Amino acid sequence: MPTDVLVEARGLVKEYSSARRVVDDVSFAIKRGETLGLVGESGSGKSTVARMLLRLVEPTAGEVRYNGGDLLAVGPRGMREMRRRMQIVFQDPYAALNPRMRVREILAEPFAIHRQGPIESLEARSAQMLRTVGMDNSALERFPHEFSGGQRQRINIARALALRPEFLVLDEPVSALDVSVGAQVVNLLRDLQREYGLTYLFISHSMPLVRYLCDRVAVMQQGKLVEFGECERVCGAPQEEYTRRLIAATPEMPASP
Ligand SMILES: Nc1ncnc2c1ncn2[C@@H]1O[C@H](COP(=O)(O)OP(=O)(O)OP(=O)(O)O)[C@@H](O)[C@H]1O
Ligand SMILES: [Mg+2]
Repeated sequence: MPTDVLVEARGLVKEYSSARRVVDDVSFAIKRGETLGLVGESGSGKSTVARMLLRLVEPTAGEVRYNGGDLLAVGPRGMREMRRRMQIVFQDPYAALNPRMRVREILAEPFAIHRQGPIESLEARSAQMLRTVGMDNSALERFPHEFSGGQRQRINIARALALRPEFLVLDEPVSALDVSVGAQVVNLLRDLQREYGLTYLFISHSMPLVRYLCDRVAVMQQGKLVEFGECERVCGAPQEEYTRRLIAATPEMPASP
């Protein structure tokens, strides 16, 4: 396998009951350093595919390759290390943060879970993580409800980056935010990717956003991959009627970003 591939789905299948496949024979590769968009109508299986890639959901059949190795064959010890390298940011920035924890504790938690201290002090690392997402130390003693949705999503992103992962699943990270706030978070994600050489799987309903952020895009319909290719090609000259409908269903991006 060429080393420029970081994550690969091979014939992934998920059945919750034998009657219906929610993911049906999905194969694609994510190149190191790229942003792959994953689009499709609600219920098409996007989140399920993402969760199988992270092994948060076990596939019914198929393979997940990570950095050339068989992820499904990795034992519990190895998975601890893999979990450090792969992180996920969810749609709802409030639900993802424990309301009883201060930001200081939220940012320290990944280190506690992985029983691994940062190279620098926890204090310095937390401050650095906040700076990275455009916030400052005054956030440390506050609780999630004291922040706006955009700020909360920045805190989620800071936490996801705490252990210096290489692969991030972004499952509709800005869908719950106002368009202009979402645009700022998207620009932040783009800057972070350049700075840290991150690889993204970006799940979205917004084709303009996907066109803005992604290198390539995978289109899912009822559990199947129906179109895949360079973003400009898929968005500019879609081959499937279904993809055309997805593009027509989302309005143009506002002037910014
Ligand atoms: N734990 C589960 N048990 C049974 N069915 C499930 C489970 N999780 C997901 N499904 C079903 O699998 C299908 C795909 O769900 P999934 O969440 O992957 O879709 P999605 O493309 O992410 O949708 P959305 O855009 O709404 O987030 C849906 O029909 C859903 O009801
Ligand atoms: Mg989903």
